[in-house]
Amino acid sequence: MKDFLWWRDGVIYQIYPRSFSDSNHDGIGDLEGIRQRLDYLDDLGVDAIWLSPIYPSPDVDFGYDVSDYLSIDPKFGSMRDFGLLLKDAHRHGIHIILDLVLNHTSDQHPWFKESRESLDNPYRDYYIWHEPKPGRNPPNNWQSIFGGSGWELDHHTSQYYYHMFYKEQPDLNWRNHKVHRALLDVFRFWLDQGVDGFRLDVFNVFFKDSKLRNNPTKLFGLRPYERQEHIFDCDQPEMMHLLQEIRQILDAYPESYAVGETFLANPEKAGSYCGKNILHATFNFEFLRNSWNPKRFLNNVIQWEHVLRGKCWPNYVLNNHDTVRTSTRFGEGEDDQRLKVAAAMLLTMRGTPFLYYGEEIGMRNVRIKHSQIKDPIGKRYWPFYKGRDGCRAPMQWEAIPNAGFSTVEPWLPVHSDYIQRNVTNQYRDPHSILNFYKKLLALRKRHPVLVRGIFEPIQQKSKHVLVYERKYKNQRALIALNFSDSKIKIILVQSRKNKWRLLLSNQRKKLEILSADSFNLEGNEALILLNAF
Ligand code: NOJ
Repeated sequence: MKDFLWWRDGVIYQIYPRSFSDSNHDGIGDLEGIRQRLDYLDDLGVDAIWLSPIYPSPDVDFGYDVSDYLSIDPKFGSMRDFGLLLKDAHRHGIHIILDLVLNHTSDQHPWFKESRESLDNPYRDYYIWHEPKPGRNPPNNWQSIFGGSGWELDHHTSQYYYHMFYKEQPDLNWRNHKVHRALLDVFRFWLDQGVDGFRLDVFNVFFKDSKLRNNPTKLFGLRPYERQEHIFDCDQPEMMHLLQEIRQILDAYPESYAVGETFLANPEKAGSYCGKNILHATFNFEFLRNSWNPKRFLNNVIQWEHVLRGKCWPNYVLNNHDTVRTSTRFGEGEDDQRLKVAAAMLLTMRGTPFLYYGEEIGMRNVRIKHSQIKDPIGKRYWPFYKGRDGCRAPMQWEAIPNAGFSTVEPWLPVHSDYIQRNVTNQYRDPHSILNFYKKLLALRKRHPVLVRGIFEPIQQKSKHVLVYERKYKNQRALIALNFSDSKIKIILVQSRKNKWRLLLSNQRKKLEILSADSFNLEGNEALILLNAF
């Protein structure tokens, strides 16, 4: 493809490093493990990998509590291992995106250890400290999204510090110039090592109201957190200038990229943070919240196209490390047909697709017993909410003990279906979901229309299908997705008529030319057609 830009035209694959591949036999995945799997990722056809945090961390929030921004956690390897991974990935044409968690550190970060020492410690103002209100009450009504007050009383100095997540994740004070400078240097440090981009964890909460005003409350909502309007602990106007500064740094490194995770986002809000001089992209999480309903997906796409209106390249994601896997949300038992339909949709939208490790083999969420829970929010809310461990289980490579992920017992249990569902088996089966993903990724490389083409929905009578066209130069592609188990007739109006060549289907074997004005879609069929001439 001419002018191929990796983060726009490519496919990005998220790796949860603890769970991908363990090379040093400690039950936890590592960088060398990832490096050894680069041939697999290359063969799958991905253009970039996003690594969930790999910095030193006491793992209260499994890497999202960082105790040193400028090195690698020994459990994942060394700086040298990182350099080797980066070099080999680049040799394969695979770019590396690091996860930057700059809203908060771990309470074990040397800055926080200093900060909590005394009221006049030079690092005191690196975090958000405040006197208690009368009665030793928290300074305001802000809550932690993970439960309870967002304020923790530190008995040593009798002040509260603020934490939006676990109490072991104190929020940094971005209003302090030293913090600001040090954190911007983190970008430069990793860019100088050769990384290609960043995923910014909850970037829109970096700044909080300078007067620490109470959030207004609402009547409805399950937990106190949801019964507030988050106008003072999120989305402060100072963010925009900071995003411009970040962009300036990135622009000094050709083709570098940043995608932001907008906290409490709706598409309008997420869209407001990406653009020419700010972030390259922000996530649209709507697909993660959908039921198996084509209308909802279509509405999400129309809305996202409208919000971004040519100012930013869209992106779509069906799975990540915080959400129940699509296989469990949409799948039916061990059947993968629906997942193939979902994959065809994700990989033929106008927008960068993000895949999550194991999605390509249809890995199911693993069932976790209470005694096996690792994620603290799972422990806190059991049995109403079981936490996020289910989507973080070890990658299923082979039908050997521990699914070939490790030679010892992994940190989280492997799904019991690994004997059948694994990479090796799926390689051998031409109809496996893995081979379907591979074909989709390969098609994107061969047919720029599937990547660059404009998106035009095509109305159908049935509410069980999603049909759209992509158009680019003189190429046209038609994608028809059947969300039901029954056969459905697709009818094309005059202007859509064409001689369609079948590029890919998960149901029919023969790649035939389809007639111009109508054709049948099999139950759970994903069909991709290209204009024949
Ligand atoms: C968002 C991340 O996706 C999540 O995993 C993490 O717990 C929080 N941010 C806190 O860093």
